[in-house]
Order: sequence, then structure tokens, then C-alpha cells
Amino acid sequence: MNEELNDLMTVLRFASVSTNSAQAADVRACADWLVTKFESLGLSVALHETPGYPVILARNAHVPGRRTVLIYGHYDVQPAEPMNEWKSPAFEPTIRDGRIYCRGSTDNKGQFMAHLRGIEEILAKEGKLPVNLIFLIEGEEEIGSPNLRSFLETHRDELKCDVVAISDTGMVAQGVGTFTYGLRGIACMEVRVKGPTIDLHSGIFGGAVANPNTMVARLAATMHDSEGRVTIPGFYEGVKDLQDWEREAWMSLGDSEPETLELTGAPELFGEAGFHERERRWARPTAEINGIGGGYQGPGSKTVIPREAMMKISFRLVPSQNPERILDLAEAHFLAHKPTGVTLEIIRGHTGPSYVMDPHSAFGKAAQRALAATFGGKTALIREGGSIPIVQAFQEVLGVDTLLLGLALPDSQLHAPNENFSIQCFHDGVRLSQALLHELAL
Ligand code: BES
Ligand code: MN
Repeated sequence: MNEELNDLMTVLRFASVSTNSAQAADVRACADWLVTKFESLGLSVALHETPGYPVILARNAHVPGRRTVLIYGHYDVQPAEPMNEWKSPAFEPTIRDGRIYCRGSTDNKGQFMAHLRGIEEILAKEGKLPVNLIFLIEGEEEIGSPNLRSFLETHRDELKCDVVAISDTGMVAQGVGTFTYGLRGIACMEVRVKGPTIDLHSGIFGGAVANPNTMVARLAATMHDSEGRVTIPGFYEGVKDLQDWEREAWMSLGDSEPETLELTGAPELFGEAGFHERERRWARPTAEINGIGGGYQGPGSKTVIPREAMMKISFRLVPSQNPERILDLAEAHFLAHKPTGVTLEIIRGHTGPSYVMDPHSAFGKAAQRALAATFGGKTALIREGGSIPIVQAFQEVLGVDTLLLGLALPDSQLHAPNENFSIQCFHDGVRLSQALLHELAL
């Protein structure tokens, strides 16, 4: 096997699921392994404890007058469930058809390990890096980076840099260099619908009390109209149209509808009326129910009225939408639509603002030159629908833009069973990282 992949295979075996405290030891073991790895490159490394999982900082010897580049990544991963849908074990990296299958292979271990490998090769060949480097890897991205902003604030001086680079987004296709200049934000919420104080026999009591399952379904149905628009009052306040150059850049990528149909396997596409499929995913805000349930879910039937039902919601947000304000609006909306016979408990979850930068800025152009040098051909200029909550904080706390140079393919299955990372993308990522550092060097 390819020796360059050894370290990646090792990192992938840590089941570093940040949302599940049962896997805390694996998350920490992954952090410890990374510290040792960075030390072996001759970088100075610090593992910083936070109230959650540690932040790792690695740096070379900084030389005054040179550019300082901060590369960010995350070593935590999403849960691997449902386990039985994996064709090979979720935490045993397995190569099939040029892809490494494993939870975290693309999101984000494969992508930050490409940078690590790129740096390792430069150091081996040239003995030093062309820039002052700060490599920051955190372990809480998949739970909304709850401790990273305050970490940036307390370590502001140490983290002073000219620009941030992240590979944690997608490419429009294999071999097509892709520069992402915007991300959607996110705001999460859980709604619990409470009825009787105990589960009830649905024959004895059915008809006399409200069923929380029915009521959570009613509440869920109040969030959209029949044309896919979100009906929460104020939700679209201040949301702007695409600029002409964006529309042109996106249209030049060709029609995305057939590919999205194929990738999703959905019987047809559906979304907010009046917008193209790509605009719906990259530039329109949405309300999604990520989980819904209550009552009996096992085999056969059970005649019960559950005492409680719930739904978990996430909103994807675009510039001008404030995540906390969106949660306020949603809360007011649900209370206004509270069904009869139940009470609501509304639990606000994590939030992160959207991000858009100017791809025609000096750093944006440097990144695009690195992409062109690595991939040849035309570089795609896109926004993405996913969120990386800390990117906005890099701008607000450190005052710098983030260059998003993604290596995920459209069918990399992030967050889903059979997540995979293309070995070609890993090698391209190694060259991209090197090209980027050379482009950014003064
Ligand atoms: N790498 C993703 C974000 C992403 C994926 C951006 C694809 C663009 C294209 C990141 O790790 C992620 O999954 N973020 C979460 C954030 C959330 C849990 C706070 C997301 O978007 O759901
Ligand atoms: Mn993710």
C-alpha cells in the first residue's frame, strides 16, 4: 500500500465522535496521536485543554516579515450510525475503487492530513516552510465549536496571522479546482411536545387527550407552505439576491439538477419556489427537521399514547440572518402555533453565522492561482450549503479572511454511511497545500 497514506489510515482508526461522551477516550487518543505526529515534524506543539476537547496548535519557528498562515482542521467526526448500512466497518479504513471508506475520511481527517503531508514533504525537501505556519486542529467542530471562539479570544496574540486556509468543503467534480467563497450559517433547536404525565393505553384514554405525536406532526407542518417557503414570520428579512457575477459563475458550471437527482436518489427535486436547485442549496435559507419521533418504534404494534414527542430542527442561514434572532423567531412561531392539549418545551441548540468573502481579494486570487497550478483548467467559484461555524470568528476575532479549498467529492457521503475520501483527492490536496504556501509566501 501507498506509504503516504499510512498516517491518514492511523488517524482514521480513532473513533473520535465528539457528540457521544462514551467515545471521549477515542477523541482524546486522536488528539494525542496528532501531537506526537506534529512533534515528529520538528514543529513546536501545544495541546490546549478546553472545557470540552483539546485544541492542538503546531507552529514552525516564525520569522519576522514573512506571511503567517493559519491552517484549520477538525479531528472530531460525526457519529457513524446507522452501523448496518456500512459496507466495511465504519472505523476501519478500507480501500475500494480508489477511495478510502471510513467515518471522517473526508470530513475532515483526509483533508487536513493532506495539508499535514504537504508540509511534511516541504520540510523533508527544503528543511523549512516558505511561511510562518500555525496549524490549529480542534475536536469540537461537529458539535458547533462551542469553545473555540473564546480560545481564539484568549490566544489572540499567539494566533495573529494574515489569512486562514481550510480544506473542509467540496469540489464540484474530481480534478476541478474549487474555491468556496461562502458558507451557510446554522441554528439548531429541539421542540418537545408534552401531553399526559405518563404513557397511556390508547384504547382506554384515546379520544380524551391530545396525542403528542399528532401534535408534533401538526407543528412540523406549520414551518413551510406548499411551495417550500419557510412560513416563520420574519425569516427572510434582509435576505439578499445573488449578485450577477455569482449567478453567472454558478450557471457556467452547467445544470446541477441531474447530478443532484442522481446523488440523492430522491424521486424528484423539491424546494423553495422560484429558485434554482443550486441557489436553494448554496444561497437560500432553509428549515429542516433532522429528527422527529415519539411513541413506539419497535416491531409489530403497541397501542399507546406517548406522554411526549419531539422534533430536532436546524435552520441553514445566509448573510444578514442572525442565528439567535432566527431562534427567537422560530420560538415565537411555535408558541403561536401551540396545539391544544399539549405544552411545549423549546430547547435552543448551537448556532453559527454564515460567511461570505470577496473571492477577488488578493488572498482569494492567490488561492485561485494555487488551485490552477494544482488542477489546471478553470477554477470553480462557489458557495456551499454546509457550515463551518468558526470561520466567521476568524474574521471577527483575528480580523482575517478564510480561504476554503475543499477536497470533498459530491459523492463522498459526509455524515452518512460509507463516507469515503478519494485517494486522488488526497494526492491533489498534498500538492495544493504546497502550492498554496508558496503562493502566500512573500
Ligand atoms: N465539513 C463540514 C461542512 C461542509 C461540508 C461545508 C460540505 C461545505 C460542504 C463540517 O464538518 C460540518 O459538517 N459542519 C456542520 C456544522 C454543524 C454541526 C455545526 C454542518 O454543516 O452541519
Ligand atoms: Mn462535518
